[in-house]
Amino acid sequence: MTVRPATGGERVRIYEVGPRDGLQNESAVLPVATKSAFIGLLADAGLREIEATSFVSPRAIPQLADADALMVGLDRRSGFRYPVLVPNVRGFARAEAVGADAIAVFTAATDAFTRANIGMSVGESLAAFAPVLKRAAELGWWRRGYVSTAFGCPYDGRVDPGRVVDVAVRLLDLGVDEVCFGDTIGVGVPGQVAALTGLAVEAGIPLDRIAFHFHDTRGTALANVAAGLDAGVRCFDSSTGGTGGCPYAPGAAGNLATEDLVYFLDASGWDSGVSLDGVLTAARFISDALGRPLTSKVGQAGGWTPG
Ligand code: COA
Ligand code: ZN
Repeated sequence: MTVRPATGGERVRIYEVGPRDGLQNESAVLPVATKSAFIGLLADAGLREIEATSFVSPRAIPQLADADALMVGLDRRSGFRYPVLVPNVRGFARAEAVGADAIAVFTAATDAFTRANIGMSVGESLAAFAPVLKRAAELGWWRRGYVSTAFGCPYDGRVDPGRVVDVAVRLLDLGVDEVCFGDTIGVGVPGQVAALTGLAVEAGIPLDRIAFHFHDTRGTALANVAAGLDAGVRCFDSSTGGTGGCPYAPGAAGNLATEDLVYFLDASGWDSGVSLDGVLTAARFISDALGRPLTSKVGQAGGWTPG
């Protein structure tokens, strides 16, 4: 694994998904004020990209039914990005009405998962995103496209990386700035991360337009980050407090915790610009709000400063 010098480390982006991917899978529905305060603490910690909420059907994700109110009241800091998930033109209109300027569309490598998640095949979802991404581009919004089930699907089993890359290329053709490969059910291992990245690069996808989204369901998330770094990827998703998952992906509990990722990057000499103490403050805040203990490793053990 690549270990960087402790100073002057190369920049790595951490894309925080706690308020969206984290909270959408918690049974507790938090008040808007609590979510705003959480996002404020994440920004205080130096997290400059915070996926704030989803403009999806409130029937599908009741935990995020307050998306409009949250975005209207949110203190959005200059130089920070607050992307919102959008599944269709209806979601886009809601995002536009609240002054969003960054969106994420989401599909998957497998039809079965995409049908369960958004009621469309992969092909249909790409067709639905086309007008959304076109309009977002006209408005100058930042645009991300997720490819979920990048390593395994709860319905279809093993996923061919060629299909994953094919969907990513089609998203880039539709104008996304970045594709994010999601290990929705947390089954991937480092060799697969290296292989998928290699295939994506071969297909012409620049490394600086690739992100990874790992769930730590089987304890492989940080090893996968290390493999991604070795392969040249410089953007990773994580969720402060290690909350999250996807309600349509059985067994998807547990995003990689931001505090575990920050510790790992700091100790390896990478520069994320994020304060571990700040993330731990936000992690404690959200676990208190949810009424459950922190499950992340660093949340339990704390950081470590060698004497
Ligand atoms: N925002 C709010 N409501 C929306 C909406 C949007 N963007 N898009 C559709 N709806 C409403 C419709 O008005 C309809 O409401 P009704 O039942 O009260 O009439 C209902 O949602 C269903 O809409 P429909 O167009 O029939 O589509 P569907 O039932 O196939 O649902 C999605 C499609 C995409 C709206 C829905 O599956 C969804 O929101 N999925 C999100 C899943 C998710 O966020 N997963 C987590 C990410 S991993
Ligand atoms: Zn996720």
